[in-house]
Amino acid sequence: MQLSDKSFTVLGIAGSLRRESYNRALLGAAQRLAPPGVTVERYERLGEIPTYNEDVRVGQGEPEPVRDLKARMAGADALLIATPEYNYGIPGVLKNAIDWASRPPDTSPLRHKAVAIMGASTGLFGTVRAQLQLRHVFVFTESYVLGKPEVLVTRAADKFDGAGELTDAATGDQLAKQLAALVAWAQRLRRD
Ligand code: FNR
Repeated sequence: MQLSDKSFTVLGIAGSLRRESYNRALLGAAQRLAPPGVTVERYERLGEIPTYNEDVRVGQGEPEPVRDLKARMAGADALLIATPEYNYGIPGVLKNAIDWASRPPDTSPLRHKAVAIMGASTGLFGTVRAQLQLRHVFVFTESYVLGKPEVLVTRAADKFDGAGELTDAATGDQLAKQLAALVAWAQRLRRD
């Protein structure tokens, strides 16, 4: 990985509002495991994003939390989404935020943005179904989703301690590899 003179910023978004969310904790681990020159910022305003309403967007304009989300996405070199899995899919709050950020499509900060996906669940499949659904969503937005390495955290309750620290070395290793791959991916896609 070669970083240019300017530092590289990743905006991390966890699709959970839960205070002790494993996915938020996974982003915390990403912050600690980021390579030199790479900053992972955590987006913490998901709960303030209102339910998507096209009448509001067109009639009154984007609510302030949505403008803030879009500005933070636009200012980041890449996105890192940590998704829970709800009923084999992505949580509504995450899809809702993506729907706001996706409009209008031509100027959406998701367009041509490098994205990596990871996720933690308490079950045996580590959000694999939610991650596939998220990849599907990012087709329309023309986001550039990193293929591999994948980060699928199964049985999350066994992999974090009571303070939300990642204790599983293998997961940390995968996470570090994914971050390095995301930076390389974003730099390869950069046109300037
Ligand atoms: C879940 N959970 C879950 N887990 C899974 O592996 N597959 C699933 O389909 C579901 N479905 C599901 C639906 C709903 C409504 C809830 C609340 C939970 C369990 C889920 O993995 C667990 O609650 C995680 O802790 C959620 O992620 P956070 O909030 O810890 O980041």
